[in-house]
Amino acid sequence: MIVVTGATGKLGSLVVEGLLQKVPANQIIAAVRTPDKASGLGARGVQIREADYSRPETLNAAFAGATKVLLISGNELGQRVAQHKAVVDAAKAAGVRLLAYTSLLRADTSKLLLAAEHLATEKYLRASGIAFTLLRNGWYAENLTAGIAAAVQQGAFIGASKDGRIAAATRAEYANAAVAALTGEGHENQVYELAADTAFTRAELAAEVSKQIGKSIAYHNLPEAEYEKVLASFLPPELARIIADAEAQAAEGALDDDSHTLSRLVGRATMPLADVVANALQAS
Ligand SMILES: NC(=O)c1ccc[n+]([C@@H]2O[C@H](COP(=O)([O-])OP(=O)(O)OC[C@H]3O[C@@H](n4cnc5c(N)ncnc54)[C@H](OP(=O)(O)O)[C@@H]3O)[C@@H](O)[C@H]2O)c1
Repeated sequence: MIVVTGATGKLGSLVVEGLLQKVPANQIIAAVRTPDKASGLGARGVQIREADYSRPETLNAAFAGATKVLLISGNELGQRVAQHKAVVDAAKAAGVRLLAYTSLLRADTSKLLLAAEHLATEKYLRASGIAFTLLRNGWYAENLTAGIAAAVQQGAFIGASKDGRIAAATRAEYANAAVAALTGEGHENQVYELAADTAFTRAELAAEVSKQIGKSIAYHNLPEAEYEKVLASFLPPELARIIADAEAQAAEGALDDDSHTLSRLVGRATMPLADVVANALQAS
């Protein structure tokens, strides 16, 4: 039995879809904070169990009978170390054979503010004695393409990553990597630095969008503090801080990677920028 936590989230939903292509539905457990959101999966034969990272009592029951668990990192900044520790504890108590965790690219050396909670989780997981797979996900391409509609309207993208290259892969590609790790052999105690095969700068993203829509969209780089202020006008301040910091670190190469680990793990090349943009334009 394979358990996916956060299975009602964007990444988790894609992982469950990928698993459904490879294993019978009754071998998959969607462990979710809000079971009502998962009724569609339930109708397809996936087992739905309540699992709230902040309510450890739900986790033991959620993991009963599980052989493998994918812990999808939560999104409540500042609370995640305690939450993830509770998940590791419950997995250990349930006798889970492998726990895969969605971490952050080079979490052990990354200077991103985001890295601390991931590294603390990794350390706790390693110390637990459960066989682990660290899926160190790089930046989601969707983080960058989400700004396309606004950029087209305003005539420019803004960011703070200067000419830093970002090896952003799509959520679907990170999901494929998780599915490979959960269904393949030999992934015990492995650390995977996952990112796209080809990195791009924000200016290259703007140029590709311009080419595809036939209208020139610029890229305006802002100082980190100024970019954070813009983000804070529509995002919670903590999140604005974290994203502005990631952008500034990206300028120094923190989100670049040329290991091709993701494409090796899933057995195919990641999507080129032109296709990422075309898909995003189609969806917008
Ligand atoms: N690499 C990147 O660029 C990047 C970008 C954004 C996020 N992330 C990380 O990757 C994770 C997955 O991304 P995503 O796009 O799928 O995010 P998402 O759509 O926000 O999904 C997060 C999932 O975590 C679940 N969750 C949050 N707190 C929980 C709790 N206390 N107990 C149980 N489940 C909880 C949510 O449950 P509900 O459905 O009930 O809300 C949701 O299913 C994020 O949570 C974050 O850690 C990475």
